[in-house]
Amino acid sequence: MCGISGIVGFENISKSLLNSIRNLEYRGYDSCGIAILEKGYIKIKKNIGYVDEVNEKEGLTNLTGRTGIAHTRWATHGGVTKKNAHPHISCKGDFAVVHNGIISNYHTLKEGLKKEGHKFLSETDTEVIAHLLEKYYSSTGDVEDAFRRSLNMLDGTYAIAMITIYEHEKIFCAKNESPLILGIGNDANYVGSDFNAFIDYTKNTVVLDDKEYAVISKEKYIIKDIRGERVNKEITMIGWDAEMAKKGGYPHYMLKEIYEQPQAITNAMNVDRKIIKEVASMIMDNKRTYLTGVGTTYYVSLLGEYYFSSLTGSHLTAVSSDEFRNLAEVADKTLVIAISQSGETYDTLNALKYARKNGAKTVAIVNVIGSSIARMVDIPIMQGSGPEICVISTKAAISQMIILLSIVLELGAMKKKITVKEKIRIEKELRRLPTVIQDILNEKSGFIHNIAHKYSRIKNWLYLGRGIYYPIALESALKMKEVAYIHAEGMPGGFLKHGTIALIDENLYTVGFIPPKEERDLYPLIIGGIEEVKARNGFVMGFHFGDKEKDYKLFDEEIILPKVDKVIAPFLQLILGQLFAYFTAISLKRNIDKPRSLAKSVTVA
Ligand code: AGP
Repeated sequence: MCGISGIVGFENISKSLLNSIRNLEYRGYDSCGIAILEKGYIKIKKNIGYVDEVNEKEGLTNLTGRTGIAHTRWATHGGVTKKNAHPHISCKGDFAVVHNGIISNYHTLKEGLKKEGHKFLSETDTEVIAHLLEKYYSSTGDVEDAFRRSLNMLDGTYAIAMITIYEHEKIFCAKNESPLILGIGNDANYVGSDFNAFIDYTKNTVVLDDKEYAVISKEKYIIKDIRGERVNKEITMIGWDAEMAKKGGYPHYMLKEIYEQPQAITNAMNVDRKIIKEVASMIMDNKRTYLTGVGTTYYVSLLGEYYFSSLTGSHLTAVSSDEFRNLAEVADKTLVIAISQSGETYDTLNALKYARKNGAKTVAIVNVIGSSIARMVDIPIMQGSGPEICVISTKAAISQMIILLSIVLELGAMKKKITVKEKIRIEKELRRLPTVIQDILNEKSGFIHNIAHKYSRIKNWLYLGRGIYYPIALESALKMKEVAYIHAEGMPGGFLKHGTIALIDENLYTVGFIPPKEERDLYPLIIGGIEEVKARNGFVMGFHFGDKEKDYKLFDEEIILPKVDKVIAPFLQLILGQLFAYFTAISLKRNIDKPRSLAKSVTVA
């Protein structure tokens, strides 16, 4: 989703500004632009397309100056056009702004400003901010006052960065419900919608809270609340370095992050036991607990729901965070566990706000330090997966699953639903998981690449799973949709005969997520589902563990996994799902790390 960057320094900053929005590309966007104060005037260059394309077309780096702002836009209000790309400028060209979020009262503000003679060039909500600034400045001649007054007029969500011809060496920025942080450097100061905006230049950051604004110059920064009161904030060091966030020799971040899963799992297993136990106790103490997330993190929640039911005897409800307000019964003695890689997802933040307002306690499993969700909840569990740059979540998701499973094991032991011996055995298996995954990545990737290539022309897939393999099938299908733009539908095997079976003929292709045979309840059921598909001439690819009992050929194609304990088996199938999607996308020459229409963190409703 949209990205913001701003730099005020001692030297020409145009190249650094361009580099910083390149580092924000992973968020997803459709257009971009830069505004720089050049010899006392604001110069803007922008267009639709990727950063390097726009630079080539418009010459973004031909601008020179020491103060500037930049933006990558993901269209919400107004189409994908050059005019709607940010930055936006006031009538007289004295204020330029970039903005993330949605100004919900922009229509009313725009009508009022138009009546007062302001001329609008775009269809965006953002442009009203530039005109408001101009209006208030003309009556007071004080930029900061005009900025504060403008902010007070805005309803909705925003992260804003602004430059003006009246204060050559300052950037004004503000935040409300959209992330915005400052970067404190030696030769310059920065503002960004996330660390990646300035991670190449400084690791020192100051996180703004809602309804705060900052005025940054090359040597200092001042933070105030929206009433104008000074706020003192500490500088935090970011643990990630720029190199970690780069591709490290892999052709795509997605593949790099798939290969980082063994490490992500180890990090997840090393999350402070005290916090895991505390959360398990909170589940015991509360009347009901919800797990919530959206997209992949909803599937992680669903997987959690299965684990809690099977290993603790407690039923936790997984609710997609975009529907949380419509479904969840939140009152006293309610606990909500939110799951989010970015910690900025609007739907999940919104669910948490609702939960808190109605008296629930909140926990989050989250990857990004200092993110809105991490700061909002009673207990943040930092998953420590390292930066996940590819829009498609892989290592963050598996790590969230492991953390949920750790809570499940603690709760299961507390409730005496699993013995201490069994808990230790499962934990030992989980500690083996990174090595097993590493072996699969090393040994199976080539084979999966070939199979994915062979079937890349298939337009529709049915992904069938039972029990815990159902959320794995759903998540694998989402990977296929996101990265390869191929329709894949995840479904519980038993559901098939209640409608979807009508689709099956030789043109519908199915992947069966087959558990090891030791899953005595699940195995025969999914095999039954596969037989139903075969009986109708459907093609079936089996992801399985080599358990064969039929003397006829059940699978038209198969990927065989090593025999492992049933506890870790679902994670191996997830890896196959990720690789199958990745290599299909490679065959189809998709834009792997930044698929069309997707954003890394979806910060709008
Ligand atoms: C994952 O591959 C997707 N890009 C998407 O579904 C994502 O999981 C969802 O938007 C939630 O994001 P979050 O983890 O940052 O909250």
